[in-house]
Amino acid sequence: MKAIRLRHPAGIDNLKYEDMAEPGAPGPGQIKVRIRASSLNYHDYIVVVGGIPTPDGRIPMSDGAGEVLAVGEGVSEFRPGDLVVSTFFPTWLDGKPNMAGFAGVPGDGADGYAVEEVVAPATSFTHAPFGYSHAEAATLTCAGLTAWRALVPEGQVKAGDVVLVQGTGGVSIFALQFAKMMGATVIATSSSDEKLARLAAMGADHLINYKATPNWGAEALKLTHGRGVDHIVEIGGAGTMPESITACAVGGHISLIGVLAGYAGPVPTVQLMAKQIRLIGITVGTRRQQQDMIRAINQNGLRPVIDSHFPLAELGAAFRHQESAKHFGKICVEI
Ligand SMILES: NC(=O)c1ccc[n+]([C@@H]2O[C@H](COP(=O)([O-])OP(=O)(O)OC[C@H]3O[C@@H](n4cnc5c(N)ncnc54)[C@H](OP(=O)(O)O)[C@@H]3O)[C@@H](O)[C@H]2O)c1
Repeated sequence: MKAIRLRHPAGIDNLKYEDMAEPGAPGPGQIKVRIRASSLNYHDYIVVVGGIPTPDGRIPMSDGAGEVLAVGEGVSEFRPGDLVVSTFFPTWLDGKPNMAGFAGVPGDGADGYAVEEVVAPATSFTHAPFGYSHAEAATLTCAGLTAWRALVPEGQVKAGDVVLVQGTGGVSIFALQFAKMMGATVIATSSSDEKLARLAAMGADHLINYKATPNWGAEALKLTHGRGVDHIVEIGGAGTMPESITACAVGGHISLIGVLAGYAGPVPTVQLMAKQIRLIGITVGTRRQQQDMIRAINQNGLRPVIDSHFPLAELGAAFRHQESAKHFGKICVEI
């Protein structure tokens, strides 16, 4: 079978399409899955360009979706032919976080899903949503679940709340979709007016071009008649946090998810405290949260926004496309 391996020194040009031995039969508690699709996340990009060191030959990609080929002894949750999607943290099944880092995360601390077949514990997968293509299912592992966790289990978003989403990457578009599913008002930002028009077509209620309006926090406050935003899905990190704190309502909530606008910098802690803002750092979520999210998707018919599809052999081109920041939604890989 084929796989992509990241050879040393890491870099997009060292993603090598290689032959490898097929895995054997699944053991007790394991399933064998024919992986059919993956999707790109910023985290995968950082691994591929060497920002997160991995051993020579690491198989990248945290997201994997496909069909069950065989189940091992004791597995009752899946049957051959079931459509499944991988989980980001294979050992964090439920409850409070029990790790700080990415050891064991597919495509980072362990081999990922840029590969045709895997044998893994059954708990490394959940059922995929009904009627989803493999590519659609593959968008959920990282981007989908992160947005869901930020807004639903952590944010406790409810109808009438105001949610602010930043940019048009995978996480932010899912956050827009989940916020609308939950009956919230959405303020969406982007650097591109063309992308903002697409966000409006998806139901975003208010639009701000964050390049044209660098003080977008004050603009968001104005749009809410001074009340502020209840939930902010913060993908910029230190560089955008001051604006987010300005935009946030008293008693509001900020989920810190990404650091695209800087790893460190001054944060107005007095305003953060005075507004009694709840700030939480988030890394994806649990298997249980993924199952809850998929139940909500099945009930509401949400479909992921897919920007483009690349064959596995052209994974490097997919990362070049991500690097260009021209994408809107998820870049998928067909395997
Ligand atoms: N903590 C977690 O569990 C978790 C999970 C998934 C992702 N993340 C992180 O979340 C971030 C986004 O991930 P992704 O996979 O959605 O990335 P992505 O698809 O590559 O998103 C990139 C988009 O982010 C927007 N952006 C960049 N700088 C921005 C800024 N200063 N203000 C507002 N928007 C900005 C841009 O949107 P426009 O082109 O519209 O301007 C850009 O197209 C990354 O930092 C990633 O590492 C974290």
